[in-house]
Amino acid sequence: MTKKTKLKLVVANWKMNPNSLKEAKKIFDTFKKLIRQSSGQAKNKNVTTVFCPPFPYILPLKKSYLGNKIFFGAQNIFFEKEGAYTGEISAHILKDLSAHFVIIGHSERRALGETDEIVSKKVLTSLRSDFHTILCVGEKERDSEGKFLFDLSEQIKNSLKEIPANLMSKLIIAYEPIWAIGEGKKAMDAKDMHFISLYIKKQLIKIYNRKIAKLVSILYGGSVNSENAGEFITESECDGLLVGRSSLNPYELSKIITNVSKSIK
Ligand code: PGA
Repeated sequence: MTKKTKLKLVVANWKMNPNSLKEAKKIFDTFKKLIRQSSGQAKNKNVTTVFCPPFPYILPLKKSYLGNKIFFGAQNIFFEKEGAYTGEISAHILKDLSAHFVIIGHSERRALGETDEIVSKKVLTSLRSDFHTILCVGEKERDSEGKFLFDLSEQIKNSLKEIPANLMSKLIIAYEPIWAIGEGKKAMDAKDMHFISLYIKKQLIKIYNRKIAKLVSILYGGSVNSENAGEFITESECDGLLVGRSSLNPYELSKIITNVSKSIK
C-alpha cells in the first residue's frame, strides 16, 4: 500500500496501555483534533496512521472516527480459525473489530515464548486473511563481528518459512532492535537504518526475488520520538515508523506525523 501511493506509514503500538477505554478515547480525540489542525495547513496527506490499541479499544475508537486516513490494527493474531483456544484471538474476530493491520512477532511477545515457527504460522494466517501484516524482527544486541546480521537474516528466513510469494504484497517488516526499545533506551542512529533496510531487502531477494523485495515496506521501531522521526525518513528512506511510548502522547504522535510528512522528498 505504502509503495504504490508513496505514503509513509506511522504505526502506533499502544502495547498494554492505557488502563481504560475512557483514557484511550481521550488520547485518540486529542490526537484527531491536533491532526485536523495540521491537515488544515495542508500537511500530513502523505502519511497513513495506524492505531494498534489493546483489542477491546479497537472497535470503540474506530466507531468514533469517520474519516479515511486513520486505520486500526491488532497486536497479535492466532493461527487457528476458531475453536477451543482459550485466550487467543482469530482473524475473523479481528475483522469484526475493524482491524486492517496486525503486528506479529514483536520482541515483547517473542520474550514470552513466541518462536519463529509460531510467528511464521501467524504471518501466514494474517496474510491469507488479507491483513496488512507487520512482521517484527530485530537483534538483542550488537557485536563488532556482525553476527547480529546473521541472526537477523535467520529470523527473517524462519519467520517467513510458511509464506508463499503470492501473499507477500501486504507484508511489512518492522526492524526493531531490542536494545533500542523501551524506557531509558536510545533510538538507533537513523543513518544506520539505510544499511539495515538494504540488508533486509537483500534477504528478501535471496528468499524470493527482486520484485517481491520491492513490494515489502520496511519500518523502523525503537524509541522513536518527534525529534528523531524526520531523520529516519530523510536519512534512511525507510517506509515508516513503529512507535511505542511516544504514540500514547497525542501531542508527540501528531508531531511525529507532521515531521514525517515534512521529511518526505
Ligand atoms: P518504544 O517501543 O517506541 O517505546 O521504544 C517501540 C516498540 O516496541 O514497538
